[in-house]
Amino acid sequence: MDKIKSLTGMLDLYDDGDNTSLPAKLFYLEEKIKDIFKSYKLDEIRTPVLEDTNLFIRSVGGASDIVNKEIYSFNDRNDKGIALRPEGTAGVIRSIVEKKLDQSNHKLWYMGPMWRYERPQKGRYRQFNQAGVEILGISEGAPEIEMISIICSIITEFNLENCTIKINHLGTQKSKESFCNALVGFLAPYKESLDEKDQHRLEKNPLRVLDSKNTNTQEILKNAPSIKEFLEPSALNLLNSIKDEFSDICDIEIDYSLVRGLDYYSGFVFEAVSSNLGAQDSFLGGGRYDQLCEKLGGKSLPSIGMAIGLERFAELIEVNNLLGKVISFIVVTSNLEPKAYKIAHQLRSLNKDIVLDIHLSEGSLKAKLRKANKNNSHYAIIIGEEELKNNTAVIKPLRNELEEQRTVSIDDLNSFFKSM
Ligand code: HAM
Repeated sequence: MDKIKSLTGMLDLYDDGDNTSLPAKLFYLEEKIKDIFKSYKLDEIRTPVLEDTNLFIRSVGGASDIVNKEIYSFNDRNDKGIALRPEGTAGVIRSIVEKKLDQSNHKLWYMGPMWRYERPQKGRYRQFNQAGVEILGISEGAPEIEMISIICSIITEFNLENCTIKINHLGTQKSKESFCNALVGFLAPYKESLDEKDQHRLEKNPLRVLDSKNTNTQEILKNAPSIKEFLEPSALNLLNSIKDEFSDICDIEIDYSLVRGLDYYSGFVFEAVSSNLGAQDSFLGGGRYDQLCEKLGGKSLPSIGMAIGLERFAELIEVNNLLGKVISFIVVTSNLEPKAYKIAHQLRSLNKDIVLDIHLSEGSLKAKLRKANKNNSHYAIIIGEEELKNNTAVIKPLRNELEEQRTVSIDDLNSFFKSM
């Protein structure tokens, strides 16, 4: 019979103990990032992975690539249009509006899978994981600083090298409009020479032309007006002060051509890129989205947020001290011996910092010790027929050649375990 394979662009993540593998790094990263979020007193929110398709059309934007070409949407058995979430912000705000929490401030974090039907390549998947932060209810100023501070904490926690946080400001509604008009006016004579995608962008969302990967468009844009000339002094001050204050912690660059691929942004926007990644070099992105809550039927709720692409971020980190001290627990008896496993059960409760790896499979002591060495165990605790009869266990050091193997009573084994 034919084998059933996983879908294109969707990974099975299995951590088989190799610390350099993507799954090992990803799982490690998830734990560490949660700790950082908690240290900023952010509250966790989990929203469903399936939402009404209209949610994304109204938020991310009907003309965006994400909604136009990449969304996984289909009708359910009741003929309702539903979609796998391509990102997390829309669901969070939908939930806040639905629960009538849109009158107060919130600092939230979430983590989980997202889906986009993109052309898979290194660092680009159809199912990928994001860790996101949304700060809701506070106007421009302090939340921007806090967001950059969280990003710097994450970058420094993992000692990331060769990465830059690019920041920009999309202006107020008025200045954005003036800039868009100037850009459209500038690009009008070149319209025919733009590719189909950029022509579409020019019509639907001119700012997105700045994000074009087409070299001809990029060449034309070299002489285009810059948003810098249209920004209010407060916006320029914000960009400059963030650059000045945080540049000694992280590399921060003001990039006036930075725009984002989702429609809900207004004001301050940012992206973090690393030259250690390939073509997909952006491992984090976000910005302010003050109008989204009202657009989804809620109150006015000024907000800012960001999301980290965890698979891309994982490529940049090294996993250190993944586990605490590992002890291998080896039972070599001719029969299944519940008593031996009960000893292991008790040991676990004595010291929660220790990872006790019970070697379940049948096989020789030699094979089990080989496995214990492979998983970097510090000690093997061996229980065979003799030990069971005498109520003892063997403690075999695996890392320290000077330490001798010894047979101890179960009480002494407990004390040894507690003291480690
Ligand atoms: P985004 O820039 O679309 O923003 O995605 C954030 C990050 O997710 C990207 O920087 C990238 O690292 C990762 N990512 C996106 N697509 C893929 C993919 N196909 N494969 C692997 N990684 C990917 C958002 O999603 C916004 N919701 C961020 C935000 C939160 N803005 C405000 N609040």
